[in-house]
Amino acid sequence: MSPATNALSPALVSHLPTGLLIGGQWGPAEDGRTFEVADPATEEVLFDVSDASPADGLRALEAAHAAAPAWRAVAPRERSELLRAVFATLTARADDISALITAECGKPLAEARAEVVYGAEFLRWYAEQAVRTDGLVRTAPGGANRQLVSRRPVGPALLITPWNFPIAMATRKIGPALAAGCTVVIKPAHLTPLTTSLVAEIIRGHLEDRGLPTGVVNVVPTSSAGEVTTPLLADPRLRKLSFTGSTGVGRTLLKGAADQVLRTSMELGGNAPFLVFADADLDAAVEGALVAKLRNTGQSCVAANRFLVHDAVARDFGQRLARAFSELRVGPGSEEGVQVGPLIEAKAVDKVDELVAVASDEGAQVLTGGDRPRSPGHFYSPTVLTGVDAGSRVVTEEIFGPVAPIVAFADDDEGIALANDTEYGLAAYAYTRDLARAVRVGEEVDAGMIGINRGLVSDASAPFGGMKQSGLGREGGEAGLEEYLETVYVAL
Ligand code: SIN
Repeated sequence: MSPATNALSPALVSHLPTGLLIGGQWGPAEDGRTFEVADPATEEVLFDVSDASPADGLRALEAAHAAAPAWRAVAPRERSELLRAVFATLTARADDISALITAECGKPLAEARAEVVYGAEFLRWYAEQAVRTDGLVRTAPGGANRQLVSRRPVGPALLITPWNFPIAMATRKIGPALAAGCTVVIKPAHLTPLTTSLVAEIIRGHLEDRGLPTGVVNVVPTSSAGEVTTPLLADPRLRKLSFTGSTGVGRTLLKGAADQVLRTSMELGGNAPFLVFADADLDAAVEGALVAKLRNTGQSCVAANRFLVHDAVARDFGQRLARAFSELRVGPGSEEGVQVGPLIEAKAVDKVDELVAVASDEGAQVLTGGDRPRSPGHFYSPTVLTGVDAGSRVVTEEIFGPVAPIVAFADDDEGIALANDTEYGLAAYAYTRDLARAVRVGEEVDAGMIGINRGLVSDASAPFGGMKQSGLGREGGEAGLEEYLETVYVAL
């Protein structure tokens, strides 16, 4: 424990699980190893967390496999009520959980609170969906036979979650998995494992209180992700992999999943265009840009990465955005009034700084920001760049930081072509007052999620996911449950 934990309530700190959760029991890693989790705003170590080995990962899979028949046999209504009860506890403990998110992930408290609401909502939504898995009985077209189509849980699932939304990315996977009747092994990000462990402990407590199998949810934090996940992917007891993270790691996992032909859900990288057409309401566009760009300090797969702005309004939009960015308060997320927190680690700041430096060397103009405003902590100022070349690395690479590069376009065809000029296809945003133009963006921009006159698309009840190299499958909404179900057809 350190001074950085002072923002956390003593009750939370004394009960926070820092071990591995396997078969309903918290315990140390088999070799006793631990790793440190630090506060990105102060760089102080918060907690030492048990560091799972490959053998620990396999023990967790054994537990998930052992609990699978009993969990699958639990009535949908009971699974639903469990999820609903966990939703209620997460909501009641929102202050504690948001303080923990801010401590390990850095985002401002108001954003952490919003994430708890968003994250808890996945459990409420899937509590409602748990009792609605559909099937079908019908007469085959020939008339002689009957078709009975039913759904069953796909089986034990490995859930690999990222550090940027430590509660929401966990519940977005746990909710549908449990609703469908799957047991899980969760491998949280080593930078932010504590929120996930707290959520898992809340679920474990509710399972125990209801006399349900506690091995349904297992958690293996580790600093050696590849070493722990590789044997799991090779083990025939695992039937499903759900991953949120970079496209590079996603590709490696997909190759690993091929041997057992695992069902996979992949929510990967993005390079979201934010189109501002000449007829846009610029005040609304700036407001939307603040959310689309700066939520979690730009560290989101759906963050606006490239601002594609019509020539006629590019200068005006750039100035307004720069003014809005320069007025924001940057600092530790636990401080009152802070609007932009730190990046997650030092190398993230270095990468952002390098992208800005390369763009400026190429002739882009820094309208605001472009510096590291404070230390200690991994801070970078909200930055607006204009006159950026469409081929600059700050445009073609996922920035994952508070930098808004503006590229001008001459007409709708060019704007849409630029928007699609990427291997990614996760999110896109567009500001226009023209309905026909909005419809065209909705039909022609290659992205799984498109916000029209909105800077936020995330919603537990909507299908979240991408096309092209941004991923496979969808999370959230009805589609999220499908990812954990097998379809079985019985010919009668
Ligand atoms: C992500 O960055 O992967 C998720 C963001 C969200 O759910 O809004």
